[in-house]
Amino acid sequence: MAAKEIRLGVAYYPEQWPRSRWPTDARMMAEAGLVVARVGEFAWSALEPEAGRFELDWLDEAVGVLAASGLEVVLGTPTAAPPAWLVEANPEILPVDIDGHKHRFGNRRHYCPNQPAFHAATERVVDALARRFGGDSRVVGWQVDNEFGGRCYCDRCRARFREWLRERYGSLERVNDAWGTAFWSQTYTSWDHVPVPQREPLDPNPSLALEYRRFISDSYVRYQRLQTSIVRAQTRDQFLTHNLMGFKFAEIDYGKLAADLDLVSWDNYPGLDPHAGHLAPALGADAMRGLKRQKTWVMEQQAGPVGWGTMLSPAPAQVRLWTYQAVAHGAEAVLFFRWRTARFGTEQHWHGILEADGTARGRYREVRALSSELRRVSHQLSAATPLAHVALLHDYDSRFALQVQPTNGALGYESTVLGHYQALRGLGLGVDVLPDANELERYRLIVAPNIVVVDRELASALAAYVDGGGTLVLAPRTAVKDRFNVTPERVLPAWLDGLCGVRVLDYQSVIGDGDVRLEGPSIKGAFRGWYEELELDGAQALATYADGAFAGSPAVAERRAGEGRALYLGGAATPPTLGRLYRLLGGQLGLPLLEVPEGLEVVPLEGAGDGELLVLLNHSDREQRLAWKGSRWHDHLTGASGGGAFALGPHGVAVLEVVR
Ligand code: GAL
Ligand code: ZN
Repeated sequence: MAAKEIRLGVAYYPEQWPRSRWPTDARMMAEAGLVVARVGEFAWSALEPEAGRFELDWLDEAVGVLAASGLEVVLGTPTAAPPAWLVEANPEILPVDIDGHKHRFGNRRHYCPNQPAFHAATERVVDALARRFGGDSRVVGWQVDNEFGGRCYCDRCRARFREWLRERYGSLERVNDAWGTAFWSQTYTSWDHVPVPQREPLDPNPSLALEYRRFISDSYVRYQRLQTSIVRAQTRDQFLTHNLMGFKFAEIDYGKLAADLDLVSWDNYPGLDPHAGHLAPALGADAMRGLKRQKTWVMEQQAGPVGWGTMLSPAPAQVRLWTYQAVAHGAEAVLFFRWRTARFGTEQHWHGILEADGTARGRYREVRALSSELRRVSHQLSAATPLAHVALLHDYDSRFALQVQPTNGALGYESTVLGHYQALRGLGLGVDVLPDANELERYRLIVAPNIVVVDRELASALAAYVDGGGTLVLAPRTAVKDRFNVTPERVLPAWLDGLCGVRVLDYQSVIGDGDVRLEGPSIKGAFRGWYEELELDGAQALATYADGAFAGSPAVAERRAGEGRALYLGGAATPPTLGRLYRLLGGQLGLPLLEVPEGLEVVPLEGAGDGELLVLLNHSDREQRLAWKGSRWHDHLTGASGGGAFALGPHGVAVLEVVR
């Protein structure tokens, strides 16, 4: 089956603009090359002005106006914005925060995912929409709710949490036993004794705190299910998605959330956090693609200046650059947020393609130019898929456990994963970011930099991978917790000590910049903040400590098992150290390594034609050159061909066919 062309689209809120303007908007969208519009999300009060009275005709009309200009419609369910009448009738649906404060009406996401009255209201409105639009060929798909998130601690959640525990544990004795409630006399003798967590770092029970995170995550998975099952009952050809928030959002196990979706879509605002680095959105894209191991949509893409209180503008040409970045990492469609800049409401700073006054200026011209340019390379890009030389394991349980006990700033979940990711990408390698340990054998190299929570099952999947010839990299604080967030009664890394040939004897947790240095034979470099004393049993030292508390003892270990091997990094490695480590491993594994200059990004793709496809993205404001030996290239964007080094201007993009 031929892949569909890459599509551009936009978020549109017809309920915020006069009806007389809709046809102009639709025509201008089409003239700019936009082919998809998402509508409906947040429009609850316009769709159901009072309980049970639906007004869907305006939406039907808006869909019709868009379709008449050739746009496909994605319909959002409006449940992220419960209307005033619902909150008034059922104030219990308002969420309660960890300190016991109830939210008020007037923002969005002001609902508890476990409230029966909210479920009932959801069923009504989603059912009404699904009956009306489920068989409508103008509507290609559904977005359920908007950006699920928020932990509720209300009495209903507390009661549901106990039921959830009961289903999983069977008896209170098992809870007491698994969580070690003997500590501080916490033993529960009635289910009613089980509390909800308190604000960290005061929460006295890490097991409770981890389970509550899982419970809330499951609550959203179940709430999503309520909606998807209603829509699915009325539709055959439309896809179901939810707009996730990339890698950086860590309240919901996105692996589980995505399991019930046909398609993962996500929201991309790279300009919101300029300090995260240009590979942060790339990691987001790879992590979202990894959830279902298939291409994604970017349901919202920053279109201009953004911000809540203050505002930040993208650099010239950066919106185009971000769009190509998302597409290179596997987005089949990119929808800009939003069509017209809001005149009112909280998001007046979030610039759309049009100005607030309705005119089309620079951003409109940019999008129009982008869509016609994209059409020229769309065929190559849609036929190709990101090529992954490496897989990085991403584990929500470990993330949750580190939220409960961060341990040391150098072990931060997001920063650690990003650090390894940046080191790999700096060598020109493609990375799949996976939410589970299935099908690892497809990769030569697996990096699991932060699996704090481990069980026997995960340990044996990793062992099988190494036995089968794979190279596995583990990092400090591997397997220091079991699935209950309890320290295993075993030598660390628990269940993996045999595989790694390593025993962790002791560790140092320090703050400040004092690095501990590593000496060869194979790797030089440094650890910062956290480092461990290792005893080797079957492994070889690739580096030893040159100084620090464990001077002279092993710091990086490698154990060979058959064709495969497991490496254990005894500390939080600095970026140059990770760069050297992966250059060494990549070279040994025969991976195609490049020297990618800082500021440039190289995304390898496969499956389009004979040669290798590389998307080059210059995230810096100066020219960047990529050198390689004996390669000929052809740039599909400009039509230029040549040999030797390739130069790319500030914020430039190239789609290169390369013969190395
Ligand atoms: C997204 C959200 C949108 C809009 C946008 C800009 O996270 O899904 O509804 O709020 O941010 O603020
Ligand atoms: Zn609640």
